[in-house]
Amino acid sequence: MDIKGSVALVTGASRGIGRHFAEQLVERGAATVYATARDPHQIDVPGVQVLPLDITDPASVAAAAEAAPDVTLLVNNAGVAKVQNLITGDLAEIQAELDTHFWGTLGMIRAFAPVLGRNGGGAILNVLSVLSWFSSGAANSYSVAKAAQWALTNGVRVELAGQHTQVTGLHMGAVDTDMMAGIDVDKLNPADVVRAALDGIEAGRLEVLVDDASRHVKAALAGDPSALYPQVSGLILS
Ligand SMILES: NC(=O)c1ccc[n+]([C@@H]2O[C@H](COP(=O)([O-])OP(=O)(O)OC[C@H]3O[C@@H](n4cnc5c(N)ncnc54)[C@H](OP(=O)(O)O)[C@@H]3O)[C@@H](O)[C@H]2O)c1
Repeated sequence: MDIKGSVALVTGASRGIGRHFAEQLVERGAATVYATARDPHQIDVPGVQVLPLDITDPASVAAAAEAAPDVTLLVNNAGVAKVQNLITGDLAEIQAELDTHFWGTLGMIRAFAPVLGRNGGGAILNVLSVLSWFSSGAANSYSVAKAAQWALTNGVRVELAGQHTQVTGLHMGAVDTDMMAGIDVDKLNPADVVRAALDGIEAGRLEVLVDDASRHVKAALAGDPSALYPQVSGLILS
């Protein structure tokens, strides 16, 4: 998949990682970059075509697929973090995270799979997280949504292989955007994350692990859960 000459569509391009995707896709020579947002007036990236798009609204998704019939690279970036406790948190907020990360991403892929197929296969990038594989405590509801989006990524990759659509999952820890504002941890530069993702797409990678946190957690999944969750390692269930 060459970025140069591709026709890309980015969800959630108003700010954060999505804005960097739109910028770098233009810089790397994409023929067209559809930069989409719930409020298109928020998009200020030079050289893009702006489209309104709310990925949780099926009519909006269908309209975008009709307005962008030449897409060859779909970047499913849009996301929200409601960070609810699973036992005591607000169920509507937990549902909203699934509506965005799982149902919204699935709706986009179902709408654009025929478009990509008609255009030779192309590629899909799903912006996932280290929290697709790990529940940090504070962000447990977000982890559920990102895990669902990861399983969806694996499923559609298999289903779309026949039409030669490359499906890549992007995993990383904390990135310096509004989503992590006020949280005092080391954060990745969103421009570096996007560079790694686009390099991975061009290299034909099925999965891009941006940082040590992602690599460590993925490797630890092969072991006992107590390695990742030492707070439960002493529990004896009887
Ligand atoms: N920041 C991190 O630490 C981190 C780490 C790993 C993965 N991620 C993932 O990276 C992606 C981008 O996050 P970010 O850090 O850039 O967050 P951000 O700065 O909060 O930006 C989120 C973007 O998603 C858009 N969005 C939310 N719901 C939408 C919807 N229903 N339809 C269309 N657009 C919608 C927002 O649009 P509005 O401007 O309209 O709100 C905004 O453009 C997300 O999938 C997130 O889960 C983030």
